[in-house]
Amino acid sequence: MADTAGAGQGRRVSASDDVEVSTYLEIAEGAKDQKAPAVPHSAPPRRYDETVLVVDFGSQYSHLIARRVRECRVYCEIVPHDTTLDHLRHLNIKGIILSGGPSSVYDANAPLIHPSLLMSGLPILGICYGMQTLAHQLGGRVAAGARREYGHALLHESATEHPIFHNLPSSLPVWMSHGDQVTQAPPGFRSLGYTENAPIAVMGNDAGVVGLQFHPEVAHTPAGKRIIENFLFQMCGCHGTWTTGNFIEESVSQIRRQVGEGRVLCALSGGVDSAVVATLVHRAVGDQLTSIFVNNGLLRREEPERVLSTFRKRGDLNLVYVNATEEFLSALRGVVDPEEKRRIIGRTFINVFEREASRLGKVDFLAQGTLYPDVIESKTPESKASSKIKTHHNVGGLPEVMKLSLVEPLRYLFKDEVREVGLSLGLPEEMVKRQPFPGPGLAIRIIGEVTAERLEVLRAADWVVMDEIKNANLYRQLWQSFAILTGSQSVGVMGDHRTYGNVIAVRAVTSEDAMTADWARLPYEVLARISNRIVNEVPQANRVVYDITSKPPGTIEWE
Ligand code: XMP
Repeated sequence: MADTAGAGQGRRVSASDDVEVSTYLEIAEGAKDQKAPAVPHSAPPRRYDETVLVVDFGSQYSHLIARRVRECRVYCEIVPHDTTLDHLRHLNIKGIILSGGPSSVYDANAPLIHPSLLMSGLPILGICYGMQTLAHQLGGRVAAGARREYGHALLHESATEHPIFHNLPSSLPVWMSHGDQVTQAPPGFRSLGYTENAPIAVMGNDAGVVGLQFHPEVAHTPAGKRIIENFLFQMCGCHGTWTTGNFIEESVSQIRRQVGEGRVLCALSGGVDSAVVATLVHRAVGDQLTSIFVNNGLLRREEPERVLSTFRKRGDLNLVYVNATEEFLSALRGVVDPEEKRRIIGRTFINVFEREASRLGKVDFLAQGTLYPDVIESKTPESKASSKIKTHHNVGGLPEVMKLSLVEPLRYLFKDEVREVGLSLGLPEEMVKRQPFPGPGLAIRIIGEVTAERLEVLRAADWVVMDEIKNANLYRQLWQSFAILTGSQSVGVMGDHRTYGNVIAVRAVTSEDAMTADWARLPYEVLARISNRIVNEVPQANRVVYDITSKPPGTIEWE
């Protein structure tokens, strides 16, 4: 599902370049197995004019549905399938979308939509499993598919006048991915469309409830965006009023309400997320904010200077700079295990941060750039069940240690939305459009021990990659591009001499939000220039390889 870069599945994760900062905070020892934020987490209610719910049945595409809705300028939130209407009274709900999911309605613990939502009278759009559970719960029949249907199908509409098909041709290519299917629509429903294999590929009733057997949210259903728009605008009566402008206004007043007279700390990383957070907090409470930028010695060449000069030029974030390079490098001495590296970096960060914070006297809040993919990851039934891939996927941690409440204004935004907010706030484009950089920095791009010397080798190679990617005007099309010090040595020949040097790997990926990614098809000439320059400009390197692994099965970072 990965497409081009620049826009923002997971990262989940920490798809954020400042996830880095929150990550440090999140990976404090002991914090990693926390189930829920153990802190006074006072995320205040959101009060947008219109909200659509995406009820998550464990689909890998739930986040994609949410993105499509937001692209229509309608605010939406993903909620677990057992959420009740009572929990959501603070949102002005206009409609409900039921995601797909891996279950069969005949499974012993098949997830169901809560009756309070089902009977709410709100328009409902059930997608794939969402349609099957609608049929099952409302008295229709679902047959266990003997075979999975996966791939393209042609949908023929039998009710072209239905608002879900507004302004669409009478036949559409759609994307199927299901085992079970609805064989009898529930009382009050009729078939609105069929395919060769599915007589009820779309069903609906007169009360605004529609089920789709196919997936409108994926790019393989070309009219999918229009179908979602039709649900939002023709069936739910949404207006598409959600803009960065009203996000900023609302979040500034929420921060004011939350923080009151309190003092707020914000860890700046140089990435867009923490910069946006600090700017919002500053706009809300001015000098009650102090920002701290910790140089961990694991940054790219010239990065600390660049971050400092950008923020100092802005001059309004009460910036404290701490150079903790020595402390980080000595804590990392002899460590090769990737998770151990992350734990040490997290712990050291907290030590430094706490020390600096204590110099400031009493502080009440910590502002951090947690993004929606992080929140989704930590919440979905799927992610609860899935095994841990990397520590950075955890949310919550530092406040437990520091007794601070969290201010997380970006908690409901995707990366590309954060970028838009950053631009609306007047942050410089080169900061807003910067590629993500992980919290543990170059440490997770050095396989094996992290030393000052090895960092320098990687910095030199990384500099070449960045330079050539920018020269080729590819920087913004790529989600990330960087070098890895692989830890392998290879034999080469230079002049008449045998060399034995480092193998440098180059990684460049496209992605929408780092949950999935594809390796970038970089032009050969660009690869050739990168390779040539690295072996010439980095004396300790004698071979360059290009990483052609997508995610999954690879991850973006090597550790
Ligand atoms: P992976 O390697 O899991 O990375 O495919 C997904 C995205 O997250 C970034 N990343 C991290 N960010 N702390 C962070 O703040 C981390 O420990 C971390 N590990 C990976 C990675 O750069 C990519 O954008």
